[in-house]
Amino acid sequence: MNKQLALMLAGGILSAGVLAAYAAEGKPEDTVKYRQSVYNIIGWNFKPMGAMAKGEMPFDAAAVARHAQYVEMMSKALPEGFAKGTGPDAVKNTEAKAEIWTKPAEFDTKLKDFQQEAAKLTEVAKGGDEKTIKAQIGKTAETCKACHKEFRKD
Ligand code: HEC
Repeated sequence: MNKQLALMLAGGILSAGVLAAYAAEGKPEDTVKYRQSVYNIIGWNFKPMGAMAKGEMPFDAAAVARHAQYVEMMSKALPEGFAKGTGPDAVKNTEAKAEIWTKPAEFDTKLKDFQQEAAKLTEVAKGGDEKTIKAQIGKTAETCKACHKEFRKD
C-alpha cells in the first residue's frame, strides 16, 4: 500500500467518530451555550413542521422547505458542540447526560440518523408532495426522540 493511501485510510478511520474529531476549545460553558443555541434553532424551525405534520397547522410546502434547510444545516453544526470535557461533570447548566461521552459510538449513531433524516427532509420538501413531506417530518422527529430518550435529562 502506498504511504499516501495509508494516511488517507487512517484519516478516514479517525474522522469516523464525530465526537473524537473535536477537542474542547475555549471554556466548556461556551461550548454548552453553543450547542444549546444550535438546538434552539433546530427546535424553532422544527416546531411548525411538527404542527403541520399533526394537522394542527395548515400545510405550507414553502415554509417546510425553508425550515428544513435550517434544521439540516444545524444538524451538521452539532458535533463540535459536544467536545470532550463539556459534560455534566464539568458544567452545571446542561441537560446532556454523561453517557454521550462514555458511549460515543452510540451517540454518534443517533446523531448520524438525525443528520440523515434531516437531509432527506430537505430533499423531499423540494418535491412539494404533502404526504411524503409529512411522513418524513415524522421520521425526523423520531430521531430527536430517540436521542433525547437516551442522552438528554428530562
Ligand atoms: C444526537 C442527539 C440529539 C438529537 C438527534 C436531537 N437532540 Fe435535542 N438535545 C440533545 C441534547 C443532549 C440536549 C441537551 C443539550 C444541553 O443542555 O447541553 C438537547 C437539547 C434540545 C433542546 C433544548 C435546548 C436548550 O434550550 O437548552 C431542544 C429544543 C431540542 N434539543 C430539540 C431537538 C429537536 C427538535 C430535535 C430533532 C429535530 C433534536 N433536538 C434532536 C440531543 C439531541
